[in-house]
Amino acid sequence: MNTLINDIIDKIEGKSPISQLGYLTEKFAGNISFSTSFGYEDQIITDMIFSHNFDIKVFTLDTGRMFAETYKTMNKTIDRYKKNIDVYFPDTAKVEKMMTEKGAFSFYLSIENRKECCNIRKVEPLKRALASTKCWVTGLRNSQSQARQNVNLLEYDENFNILKFNPLINWNMDDVLDYIRKKNVPYNSLHDKAFISIGCEPCTRAILPGEDLRAGRWWWENNSKKECGLHEK
Ligand code: ADX
Ligand code: SF4
Repeated sequence: MNTLINDIIDKIEGKSPISQLGYLTEKFAGNISFSTSFGYEDQIITDMIFSHNFDIKVFTLDTGRMFAETYKTMNKTIDRYKKNIDVYFPDTAKVEKMMTEKGAFSFYLSIENRKECCNIRKVEPLKRALASTKCWVTGLRNSQSQARQNVNLLEYDENFNILKFNPLINWNMDDVLDYIRKKNVPYNSLHDKAFISIGCEPCTRAILPGEDLRAGRWWWENNSKKECGLHEK
């Protein structure tokens, strides 16, 4: 795997995200997928994929607890690019059991409950979404948090057994905002209300000036790494 990663890095290092995406689309023809939660970074990658007609499956994990604004962003995106976004839902029986036994807000009560919910609503559907995929594209950036500073442009993800490509890994917030403005990319209106990292509605709040970009995620948990299992290292 390391040889494959080094070979690809040799070919794509220093190139623009668009040419990197183009290279990987050919390399993994028919087996490359991009996961979007419709945040700024994901909207940029979606713009790159759809504007260049790259043959990359674009999918989202609908946890059932998203903001109305996020669904509106999804529809604005479909209207703009006239392309499909595949939607993956959690297993019905597991959500029914969890909510019947623990109610609608179990995740506030313990980290175990929170991880159980993220597992059912995000991690398991992601496994299904990636089932026939060889390369997984995400919108991770190093400067999003302390925990993400060791993420690489291209790496092997041991949890999901897959090659993971993070084209915006070195971008800072100014790069992100510049792209959104210049290309007039549709974005989640919550970003204008100090929501920077946007996940499920009950587990996301706006951040205060000076706070970590991901401080609004699972804000009641002080000791967790603030990851839901999609990007644990
Ligand atoms: S999370 O793990 O804490 O939720 P974050 O919101 O920062 O992650 O998003 C990082 C990347 O994970 C996104 O760029 C996207 O590729 C993927 N991702 C996160 N949530 C979802 C989702 N609900 N559906 C699809 N992809 C997602
Ligand atoms: Fe459940 Fe919150 Fe995780 Fe969403 S972010 S899956 S609501 S615990």
